[in-house]
Amino acid sequence: MNLILLGPPGAGKGTQAVKIVEKYSIPHISTGDIFRENIKKGTELGKKAQEYMNKGELVPDDLVVEIACARLLEDDCKEGFLLDGFPRTVYQAEKLDEFLAGCGRKVEHVLDIAVEKEELITRLIGRRVCRSCGASYHIVNMPPKKEGVCDICGGELYQRADDTEETVANRIEVYEAQTMPLIDYYEKAGVIAHIDGATGLDNVFADIVSVLG
Ligand code: AP5
Ligand code: MG
Ligand code: ZN
Repeated sequence: MNLILLGPPGAGKGTQAVKIVEKYSIPHISTGDIFRENIKKGTELGKKAQEYMNKGELVPDDLVVEIACARLLEDDCKEGFLLDGFPRTVYQAEKLDEFLAGCGRKVEHVLDIAVEKEELITRLIGRRVCRSCGASYHIVNMPPKKEGVCDICGGELYQRADDTEETVANRIEVYEAQTMPLIDYYEKAGVIAHIDGATGLDNVFADIVSVLG
């Protein structure tokens, strides 16, 4: 099962990814998470990526493609994978197709999660993330039982550096200009399914499962 989660910032890609990987036993590969991990560790890659991420711009294609393909070569991806936030440009999608073709594989499903802009902004500005396990909360829609503390692991909740009003607006613009053309790209490949991302967590997941079977 080779899957891609497509959708604007705040559509719920990360939230649904947790449920999908649990049900289908495939690894969750989020390029955003890989970059944040590297920023935390202070690696060279982290330093390069941080400049772009903090402004809500895309990290340069070649850097992202290299990281993603290296991850896809790891053993746990043999039976399938769930890509979250990659590819994000037509160039990245073409490189991914070339890479997969080289291993006799292909993209099987692209789940395009759509949510309107106002709702995306509300979700992102109110999001809090666990420093230890990565679980996502929302200060109004999905508050933790105890403020600032993760329900799952007791870790500290923080606000992502790119979840400020100004950066969120830019991320959405960047999505519309650079990532939305992928909808057409995967439409032509006949692998895309459109999911309404505004129907509540469990309904969104049920729609995804009905596509994947
Ligand atoms: P990345 O980490 O991928 O961020 P993003 O695409 O902006 O998406 P988010 O993680 O913000 O949103 P999400 O869809 O995962 O939503 P979530 O489930 O958390 O990328 C960050 C940056 O890294 C990029 O800007 C770029 O600089 C760089 N980068 C990464 N990949 C790259 C690439 N391929 N090329 C170039 N650069 C790259 O949910 C959001 C909130 O909504 C949460 O609070 C959640 O609780 C809530 N929520 C979720 N679902 C629902 C629901 N159904 N109802 C109500 N609330 C919900
Ligand atoms: Mg995410
Ligand atoms: Zn946690």
